[in-house]
Amino acid sequence: MCGIFGYIGKRNDAPSIVLTGLRSLEYRGYDSWGIASLSKKSSANWRIKNQKYLGKILVKKKAGKIGDANVNDLPASSFAIGHTRWATHGGVSDINAHPHLDCQRQLAIIHNGIIENYDEIRKELGSNHKFISDTDSEVAIHLIEENYQRLLTSNSGLKSQDYKDIFWEAVKNSFRKLSGLNAIIVMDIKSKCMIAAKNGSPLAIGKGSGENFLASDAHALVPYTKEVYFMEDDELVLISTDDIYIGKVYGYSKKTPVFSKLSLKTQDVDKGNYSHYMLKEIYDQPDVIRKIVGENNSSTAQFAKLIDNSYGTYMVGCGTAAYACLAGTYIFSKVAKKHLNWAVGSEFGYITDFLTSKSLVLALSQSGETIDVLEAVKAARTRGAKIAALVNVDGSTLFRMSDYKLLLDAGVEKAVVSTKAFTAKLAKLIMLASSLSDDVDKVVNMLKKSVTTVEQILTEKNLRLIRNLVDLIVKKQHIYVIGRGLSYPVALETALKIKEASYIHAEGFAAGELKHGVIALIEAGTPCIAFLPNDETYAASLAGVMELKARGGFIIGISFKNLDIFDYYLPVSDCGVATIIPATVIGQLLGYFLSVAKGLDPDMPRNLAKSVTVK
Ligand code: F6R
Repeated sequence: MCGIFGYIGKRNDAPSIVLTGLRSLEYRGYDSWGIASLSKKSSANWRIKNQKYLGKILVKKKAGKIGDANVNDLPASSFAIGHTRWATHGGVSDINAHPHLDCQRQLAIIHNGIIENYDEIRKELGSNHKFISDTDSEVAIHLIEENYQRLLTSNSGLKSQDYKDIFWEAVKNSFRKLSGLNAIIVMDIKSKCMIAAKNGSPLAIGKGSGENFLASDAHALVPYTKEVYFMEDDELVLISTDDIYIGKVYGYSKKTPVFSKLSLKTQDVDKGNYSHYMLKEIYDQPDVIRKIVGENNSSTAQFAKLIDNSYGTYMVGCGTAAYACLAGTYIFSKVAKKHLNWAVGSEFGYITDFLTSKSLVLALSQSGETIDVLEAVKAARTRGAKIAALVNVDGSTLFRMSDYKLLLDAGVEKAVVSTKAFTAKLAKLIMLASSLSDDVDKVVNMLKKSVTTVEQILTEKNLRLIRNLVDLIVKKQHIYVIGRGLSYPVALETALKIKEASYIHAEGFAAGELKHGVIALIEAGTPCIAFLPNDETYAASLAGVMELKARGGFIIGISFKNLDIFDYYLPVSDCGVATIIPATVIGQLLGYFLSVAKGLDPDMPRNLAKSVTVK
């Protein structure tokens, strides 16, 4: 949560480079945005008008999304940092937007995380500092200012290089005092460098030629450099135009980081001709699944063996990834005749007492940065369990901390509403289970059929059917979704897509649970989406549909065949266990078109952010 970007180097348009960086990180938080820069050369006119800012850090910050904002009002600069915010402490306002400054406008901070002891630090700093915002982040910059000032006064006769060392000590000592999980970047006028430190949220350093970068996600660096270093927790880095060195928050030595090469290309992170990332990512799915089906079977088989040999495998994930875990329990039961357990990330820590060194924890995550998943994995590790991950982002924290990992290979997912990462997880789980089954080819063929079925769903004729349905239900306040067996996680995921993208209240239920309370919600005309695949759940699910119909429900059947009982029918071919993939795509499209019909932005739904790095 929160996007961070920093630039220092040879160019004169640092504020607009940072703004571009923030645009590509905006899905991490879009409550407000802001940029701090250090003026390089400013016109005589600008200098006359802005006397009070000469030799000081300039800031532009605003509540709301970036939209078509520009930074033309900031003068030329070769040093700037910027932030897109997902608010935690302090409401959404211009003042609470980052960056925050020290009292002298000589230091600026951008922050991702929660400083749990901010109130205590603020009290300790007392009335010597002027606090302008209600944020925890502002406290950190005044703490750094205090420590920096103290170190400067106790060291006389300083040369310009010494400022870097002193700034380093000041940031290091201050960061040690912050409790909670945090990532910060601090810019300093005196030493002309920025220092970043982290013990939670992700940060990647980008090394260019005569210029260097910092960003929350490495793909924001792709237009500028492919040389990246992913910071580890408890690391501190100093970045100037010519220097990058790294050290430990609780250590003394400094070294040059070893950079690795990113394989991403600019077109991998663009939305191309699509109106939204969400739509582009829905359309990416046939290629993603085709690639997964064609992948090297030996690495899948090895990974599957881990599951087979473990004393117990526990899947863990959050939100959409949690529904993929639930789907995994059905997939492994049906295909591999194996029991896998699962829990949502935030609950997992309370049920870990049974884990042993023979247990395997399989974490599912698109970003690899979800704090509840990372904490679950850490809790499991303290009990000696082995950690495996199905993760989309190469180099993410989860990727690095896992003993065994399998990349999802879904490509960059930017829409806040997850689509292709979910179906990629399903496809990977089906492939893994198939390699423990008696008939691998049969399962693989089902997956292949799911690819062509998704392609059919994405044809204009089908899309029109979905858009027409959207016209009928867009004004409704509640939508209920039912499914049994493998379709149960699909029902939950469909309801989540509708909620997130369109803000219509939608609930997914196990179809059999209807009679145990849910049916009380059904009134004449209530939209009820029912998944009725050609499997062992068909007859029982149909009974549930009858019960809904008898109470006046408007029945939307998603099935391999049309039935008289349906008020609206959306076809999905039978692809065996892999039917869950095209069925989910229909749910995603419903969420997308409901959002568009309501004039909303499906890529950035209110109150949400892509990567949930705070508790
Ligand atoms: C829903 C959605 C979220 C994420 C969840 C976990 O569309 O995107 O529910 O699935 O926050 O995120 P990852 O997979 O990055 O761990």
